[in-house]
Amino acid sequence: MGYLDDEVKRLQSIIDGIEGRVKALETRQSGGSPSKATSEEIRMILIGPPGAGKGTQAPKIKEKFSCCHLATGDMLRSQVAKKTPLGREAKKIMDQGGLVSDDIVIGMIKEELENNQECKGGFILDGFPRTVPQAEGLDAMLRSRNQTLQHAVELQIDDALLVARITGRLVHPASGRSYHTTFNPPKKAMTDDVTGEPLIQRSDDNAEALKKRLATYHLQTAPVVGYYQKTGIWKAIDASQEPGTVWKSLLAIFDGDKAKAGNAGSGILSKLAGRS
Ligand code: AP5
Repeated sequence: MGYLDDEVKRLQSIIDGIEGRVKALETRQSGGSPSKATSEEIRMILIGPPGAGKGTQAPKIKEKFSCCHLATGDMLRSQVAKKTPLGREAKKIMDQGGLVSDDIVIGMIKEELENNQECKGGFILDGFPRTVPQAEGLDAMLRSRNQTLQHAVELQIDDALLVARITGRLVHPASGRSYHTTFNPPKKAMTDDVTGEPLIQRSDDNAEALKKRLATYHLQTAPVVGYYQKTGIWKAIDASQEPGTVWKSLLAIFDGDKAKAGNAGSGILSKLAGRS
């Protein structure tokens, strides 16, 4: 037995050495730094009704992949806060639970994807595309960049659960961080945990506007789900679970990718094993 144990240890140390060397070579091969190999890039969209948790989960994905988080609702609210002509027009539509024109939001996303340095590491689109023409606009944009979407994740939840989520939401406008009076309260009432600045309630976060936002979602955004179901990149998550469980479901989707990459065998180890 002693001989076998020694032999196993010896082989394990040879394998560890080879794996370390392969990792270093793969990093050099991808031309990237060890901390950011190209396989870690993410290009995805989050679809879900108001309050499903898009804005809660997206910052965690951003942290994991060091990519940009583009939330069209936040971009429009920033125009509203600056009182630009677009902001003034958008505020009326947003407070009524309607949708801003496709051309405007497609233009906003195009501008960010082209000029926002954070988007070089990939992107999460939150609240976009919201109509089929927006989905087609995104496809055209990505085609011209020789890119494809990896994931269209739908956060599924019953409308009945959303009233409490939306009416209790508190937001830190500068960062987009969101809290909930009951489900995720800030440490100090009405105060952002990180900056100590005041939290606000969005002007469209009331039961009446929510009813219209939900109607708009079912009428105009549900077909976007059908659009992505046909492409094979659509996946659904049960968004009625608590935020940590929703996050685990997202991680399982990302881990599924890694497993696929491993099976596809694009790495040097796979080539050595004759799998490529
Ligand atoms: P937008 O800002 O995109 O709003 P929305 O889609 O209605 O989504 P929300 O931000 O309300 O929901 P969320 O899913 O991010 O929820 P959150 O994570 O904060 O759009 C606003 C308006 O802008 C639109 O109505 C439209 O007019 C316009 N617009 C935007 N994009 C457009 C486009 N592409 N085209 C045209 N018009 C556009 O969570 C909500 C609350 O629940 C929080 O308090 C949170 O703490 C809590 N919570 C989250 N997850 C959980 C959980 N798992 N359990 C318990 N509580 C939770």
